Order: sequence, then C-alpha cells, then structure tokens
Amino acid sequence: MKTASTVAALRKARARLKGTLGFVPTMGALHEGHLTLMRRSVRENGHTVASIFVNPRQFGPSEDLAKYPRTLKEDLKLCREAGVDLVFTPDADVMYPDGFDTFVEVERLSRPLCGEFRPGHFRGVATVVCKLFNIVQPSRAYFGQKDAQQVLVLARMVEDLNMPLKVVTCPTVREKDGLAMSSRNRYLSPSERERALVISRILAEVKRQFDKGERDVGHLVSIMESALGAEMDEVQYAEIRRLADLTEFPGPIDAPALAAVAGYVGTTRLIDNVTLTPSRGRNA
Ligand code: PAJ
Repeated sequence: MKTASTVAALRKARARLKGTLGFVPTMGALHEGHLTLMRRSVRENGHTVASIFVNPRQFGPSEDLAKYPRTLKEDLKLCREAGVDLVFTPDADVMYPDGFDTFVEVERLSRPLCGEFRPGHFRGVATVVCKLFNIVQPSRAYFGQKDAQQVLVLARMVEDLNMPLKVVTCPTVREKDGLAMSSRNRYLSPSERERALVISRILAEVKRQFDKGERDVGHLVSIMESALGAEMDEVQYAEIRRLADLTEFPGPIDAPALAAVAGYVGTTRLIDNVTLTPSRGRNA
C-alpha cells in the first residue's frame, strides 16, 4: 500500500492504477463502518484509493474540529488490511492553500435536517469531496447511509456537475446492540453510551410500526420525540421526510421515506436514520 500527502504525489501513484478505481473518502479514526466501504470497493474495483483528511471547512466554529480523533498510524494499518492500494493523507494547506476561493453548494438538499443546525457544513463537504474526486478521478465512490443527507447531497452534486463517476451507498454498520458506528462514539462515557442506544432503538420501533401499516408522520414523530427526549441531553431534530429529496410529507407517508435523528448525549453529537419503504408495508 502506498501513501501520498501531496496532490502531485497522489496523481503520480494514481496514474499507475489501471482499470476501475474505487474511492473511499474518510476523516480517519477508522472503524468497521469505514472498513466495510473499503472492502466493498476492493471487491468491486480493480484498485481502491482511500483518503484520510479531517476537513476544517465542514466544521462550524463551535464544533469539535480540534478534538476530532486522529489515529493515522492505526488507520493506515486498517486500510492496508482492507486491501486499499493507495491512501491520500493531505494537510489542510495542501487542500486549502492561500487564496483558496471556490466552493460547491448543493442548495435545497443542504438546507433541512443537519443543514439547519450546521450552517456551511454541507458546503464544506461538497467542496472537499469535489476536490477529492478531481484529484483521485475514481470510477466509483463509496459512502455510508449513516450520513444519509450527505450521500444525497453528494449524489446530487455528481449528477448536476456531470462528474464521471458512480456514487455507491452502503448500509449503516451497527454495534451488536444497535448503536450506529461513528468515530465520535469514542467520546461517550459508559453511561452516555447506554443512553445513546435510545436512538437506534426508537428508529427500529418507527420502522416496525411503519411496516405494520402506520403512515401518520405526526404519530411516528411524536413516538421518536418522547423517547429521545427522555434519554438525550438535546434533541436537534427527529423528522420523517421523503427519501428522494428530503421534502416533507403534507399527508400520510406515500413514498419512500427517511426517519432521521440528531442530537447530543453529553457533549457528543450523534446522528442516525432508517429508511421506510412503503412496499414493505403490511399489504404489499
Ligand atoms: P467520515 O465521518 O469519516 O465517514 C467516512 C464515510 O464512512 C462516510 O461515507 C460515512 O457515511 C461512512 N460511515 C461512517 N460511519 C458509518 C457506519 N456506521 N456505517 C456505514 N458507513 C459509515 O463522512 C465523512 O467522513 C466526511 O464528511 C467526508 C465524506 C470524508 C468528507 O470530508
């Protein structure tokens, strides 16, 4: 496995990788969620490139950029074991040299849910991923459904800007007890981690009720809000929106939907979601 920390070195190493190229962008502190994306890319492509870059432009001024976990040595070992051929590990100066002045904004999809609480976040994500795509030039790029809004934003960017690659969405990887894996889970104390389980538990309950035929958004949202409110220190949102474009349902759920949650347990911000597909309902 090779590593490159400058754009020139990455391009040079990439040029030697012939055939289809899979790409897995990450911010490091790798866990089984990231590794699942990497292994899938390795299976589906001739070669795989990963990137590890904690992107300052997607963190707000009061967010956890400084204390975001950085475990590069261990990450590189895990990439190698997953079968990655090349890892891009740029510094912020490499990605954002003096004079940097261009941003990618996916307007409507970036507004609701996390966009409301993290202004500028998806602009930072879209900008860095656009740059990474231009640098790496992959055939396929792999993202997790755990960050459902992120993958919608990026798929829209690829479509709208005619980027010549396929966005592949992979299912959320969970701990045995249901907690969605996240680099931020390592901040949770044992008792916070216990309380955090409410998120996956209530999302599974919403899915159960939906599969039994419940289609009322207000009812499902109130189930989520009361359960989350009892365990979490702050619930930022608990919403059900159309999976295709994140718009709201004016009436009963009549199209594929996303039930999504974000909020704090202690000082750790957690997000999770499930998809609700009408064809899975009782009478389907
Ligand atoms: P990061 O949080 O490191 O996640 C990298 C990729 O791993 C994302 O596509 C994310 O959805 C996926 N992922 C994380 N946890 C997962 C889980 N439990 N199951 C499945 N996939 C999971 O997301 C980012 O980094 C950044 O925003 C990035 C796209 C790299 C741009 O900076």
